[in-house]
Amino acid sequence: MELELDKLTKQFGRKTAVNQMSIQMQPGVYGMLGANGAGKTTLMRMICGVLNPTQGNIYLDGRTLKELGENYRNVLGYLPQDFGYYPDFTAKDFMLYIAALKGMNLQEAKCRSTELLGLVGLTEVAAKRIRTFSGGMKQRLGIAQAVLNNPSILVLDEPTAGLDPKERVHFRNLIASFSKDKIVILSTHIVSDLEYISDTILMIKDGKLLINRPADSIAHEMDGKVWSCVLPKQEAEAVSRSFCVANLHHGEEDRVILRVLSDTIPMEGAVNEAPTLEDLYLYHFHNNPNEYRGLQ
Ligand SMILES: Nc1ncnc2c1ncn2[C@@H]1O[C@H](COP(=O)(O)OP(=O)(O)O)[C@@H](O)[C@H]1O
Ligand SMILES: [Mg+2]
Repeated sequence: MELELDKLTKQFGRKTAVNQMSIQMQPGVYGMLGANGAGKTTLMRMICGVLNPTQGNIYLDGRTLKELGENYRNVLGYLPQDFGYYPDFTAKDFMLYIAALKGMNLQEAKCRSTELLGLVGLTEVAAKRIRTFSGGMKQRLGIAQAVLNNPSILVLDEPTAGLDPKERVHFRNLIASFSKDKIVILSTHIVSDLEYISDTILMIKDGKLLINRPADSIAHEMDGKVWSCVLPKQEAEAVSRSFCVANLHHGEEDRVILRVLSDTIPMEGAVNEAPTLEDLYLYHFHNNPNEYRGLQ
């Protein structure tokens, strides 16, 4: 299976939300990372066929979405960013309702709903109204409805929004269990959500694809650019004005330990550190090197 985006572009008036994006995707988990407004939702809506591109095409195994029509929708699962949950429905009824929309027969829908509500840990609240659910429970229900039809392409827009750290771990395990032989595309602006589950990292900035790389090779781009420096507090302030500082915390005796991202050694005594995905993200998305983050 191959999903190909070919010079995909979306304009809203004069604003180019997605600019000439070309990506070829095979089964695996694609983590899409970008600041708010980068174009993630717009791209996903085009992939799901709910928004027409201004230019460019999407192909599944060489055939356009138009050619595939209903056949494409049948292999697609989608969790939109602004998902409506029908607060008066119970979780179970909601699943059956979505199953009906997807054209599943009732018997199959019942079996699959029960199974999926179990998988996402909602069995005990299956008969409760959605309005009583926490943010994390709603997101889990959102994921369950997206995989009802056992889709081979699963698109999740900010699926971890509103999840607490424990729920994030649960979510990662869920995705891992669903993702076998599927193309899973998920967006987030939270780097740590992607680090363990993505096979490929897509970094998007201002509607453009900045990075498209295997996740395990991604931090290497930062090799030799991540530095640890220990400085007195006053000097730390000056350094964080002129460099990209990924992190800073208090050390011993009024000293501050800074994690600096810089192509060259930022100061005498700085030592190289092993890079992370977050370093790479900050390196590319750090717009204002003069911003002082402050010491709390
Ligand atoms: N329907 C729309 N009409 C006009 N502008 C839009 C519309 N949808 C998105 N945009 C603009 O396109 C850009 C990308 O938005 P979006 O795809 O929602 O980004 P992200 O999901 O990465 O936060 C933003 O500048 C946003 O304001
Ligand atoms: Mg979005």
